[in-house]
Amino acid sequence: MAQGILAGRTALVFGAGSIGPGWGNGKAAAVAYARAGARVVAIDHNLAAAEETTAIIASEGGMALALFCDVTKMAAVEGAVAQALSTYGSVDILHNNVGHAGMGGPLELSEEQWLREMDINLNSMFRTTKAALPHMLKQQRGVITNISSSAGIRYTGYPYASYYASKGGVNQFTVGLALQYASQGIRCNAILPGLMDTPLIYAQIAG
Ligand SMILES: NC(=O)c1ccc[n+]([C@@H]2O[C@H](COP(=O)([O-])OP(=O)(O)OC[C@H]3O[C@@H](n4cnc5c(N)ncnc54)[C@H](O)[C@@H]3O)[C@@H](O)[C@H]2O)c1
Repeated sequence: MAQGILAGRTALVFGAGSIGPGWGNGKAAAVAYARAGARVVAIDHNLAAAEETTAIIASEGGMALALFCDVTKMAAVEGAVAQALSTYGSVDILHNNVGHAGMGGPLELSEEQWLREMDINLNSMFRTTKAALPHMLKQQRGVITNISSSAGIRYTGYPYASYYASKGGVNQFTVGLALQYASQGIRCNAILPGLMDTPLIYAQIAG
């Protein structure tokens, strides 16, 4: 029987892998939820990376399921939430970690690249929330954590127009959700990290 403050809770982490060796935020969050006692559904469009995360959780005695899902596809997101529910019986925590920083301002980015960034960073959170929220409302309990960025409120020195705009959108999406559903037992927050040396950021900026 799992112990910890999240014992009996199910945490869905979208973007729970890491794009390279080492630790990214999604992988770290998934393992941290498991260490707090949660059953973790580690979801990623790189199934091998999600499985690496669940293997760490299993090696520590935790309970976890790895699922393939591309957050830019509504049906895939709905499928992942349904599978989490049928496996563990509840959806208590939704952790939206997927993000991508495509370099360029409006002159360098194509329209297609701009829309793609919006789709990965912002529209993805609409999809996962749309799929998970009804189950949380049924329980009258749930937590949604959206990983934004300091780029959502500041110029960080990097020319990534779509990242600024999408993370700013994540912030206000979060505020709206939090206030709309607080009275129904849903807690919704955004986290705005500064620059961290993760495999993803190394590939996008430093690599
Ligand atoms: N690393 C930083 O410096 C930094 C700073 C501020 C904010 N953030 C934000 O933190 C979050 C995590 O960043 P990180 O650098 O720790 O990365 P990470 O290591 O957590 O990697 C993100 C994961 O998302 C997965 N992913 C990407 N596209 C996907 C898709 N379409 N469908 C499903 N999964 C997908 C990747 O395979 C990867 O495993 C992002 O939202 C990022 O914008 C990072």
